[in-house]
Amino acid sequence: MKYFFLSLIALAILVVGVFGFRGDKFSQAPIEVFPDMDNQDKIKAQKPSGFYADGMGSRRPVLGTVPRNADSGVMPIEFGAGRDGYYFTGELEGTFGNGMPEELNLKEEKDSIGLLGRGREMFNVHCAICHGKAGDGKGVVATYMNKSGAPVPTLLDHTQDKSPDGYIYHVISKGKNLMSGYEHNLPVRDRWAIVAYLRALQASAK
Ligand code: HEC
Repeated sequence: MKYFFLSLIALAILVVGVFGFRGDKFSQAPIEVFPDMDNQDKIKAQKPSGFYADGMGSRRPVLGTVPRNADSGVMPIEFGAGRDGYYFTGELEGTFGNGMPEELNLKEEKDSIGLLGRGREMFNVHCAICHGKAGDGKGVVATYMNKSGAPVPTLLDHTQDKSPDGYIYHVISKGKNLMSGYEHNLPVRDRWAIVAYLRALQASAK
């Protein structure tokens, strides 16, 4: 029994020695036996952080993304909202213009090849479901739309050939009847790339 009390006192002294009395102040961080998620890694807005290479806690928006709550006033310039000039509207002196705008910066052959490649990619993603990969109006959706009395036209016949580049750009941007506009999905440059690719499709269909 004697030893029991002695060891109890020794244990009490040990516990108080290590952990201190309740309410004691320490200069060092307390020993946490059960951390209970008291401390977690997190990033505070506007505060530095060692987690990212640039040392900033706040991140910039991912390149090319558009904030969901953006109204056209803050749409990035590459979508062209509220801007004028041939490049952004397809219009020249009150009518639709023809030719690729200067802003596309097509100096060498490889620039044009790059633009056409991008145009093919975007056409296949956005337009082929209706107009068909070849532009012949035989896309999957067209089979259904044609039955409903709103046919999807081929883009390869003469009337299409003759419509100016600026008009095609305009139809892509604003849409026409049952075809919706792509000005919020496709940056200006991609819309022109599609125009260029469509011309290539038309030329190869001849
Ligand atoms: C949902 C199906 C659908 C998609 C997707 C679609 N179109 Fe159309 N498109 C139509 C229909 C339907 C018309 C006919 C509109 C009319 O004249 O009533 C049309 C018409 C056109 C015309 C002819 C306009 C005219 O006045 O002759 C062009 C050019 C055109 N589309 C290009 C495109 C391009 C480029 C894309 C991809 C960015 C695209 N379309 C995506 C359904 C679609």
